[in-house]
Amino acid sequence: MTPPASSQHPSDETLSVWTRDLARPEATAALARAFSTIAAPGLCVLLNGPVGAGKSFFARSVIQTLMQRNGEVEDVPSPTFTLVQTYELGSLDVWHADLYRLTNPDELIELGLEQAFDTALCLIEWPDRLGGLRPDGAIEMTLTPSLSGEDRRDMRITGPEHLIGRLQAAMESTAE
Ligand SMILES: Nc1ncnc2c1ncn2[C@@H]1O[C@H](COP(=O)(O)OP(=O)(O)OP(=O)(O)O)[C@@H](O)[C@H]1O
Ligand SMILES: [Mg+2]
Repeated sequence: MTPPASSQHPSDETLSVWTRDLARPEATAALARAFSTIAAPGLCVLLNGPVGAGKSFFARSVIQTLMQRNGEVEDVPSPTFTLVQTYELGSLDVWHADLYRLTNPDELIELGLEQAFDTALCLIEWPDRLGGLRPDGAIEMTLTPSLSGEDRRDMRITGPEHLIGRLQAAMESTAE
């Protein structure tokens, strides 16, 4: 595997960039399963990409994997209208947010999202709406529909080097 390209972040944190060719929804689900092995309180994934890119698909796959690990079966409804859906999965709190309809970032403070960034695993769709609340040290994933097939997505993953390294290792050890 090609080692990740690295660059220096203004805060002196080394960022890595990793790109994935996700040929089918199953490839996105496999990445989500690998990601769920590094899921932890205080970890945040910012999910970018146009409508229908697969942001919710990825977030749902992470949540469903964590549920299965805890022997739980629950609906994973879309947070489109509620802004957030929260889950308690074993000892891990998970927040799934879709900020597309957010009108005022103050709503996020009322919902407690700022605190959740410290205490929960946060999966955030449309993170450009976060404004000044954008957390440091997040993993940023950008899904782009590919020109070479309806079910194909290009995924660009950027984040702190140690987290990207752990994600790559998890992907290798969960690969069939
Ligand atoms: N490789 C792929 N990865 C993820 N989803 C895919 C892929 N190929 C096809 N799909 C399909 O694309 C759709 C993505 O829908 P999804 O709701 O996840 O988009 P979204 O990015 O959350 O959009 P929105 O901005 O409206 O919230 C799903 O129906 C999914 O099955
Ligand atoms: Mg969505």
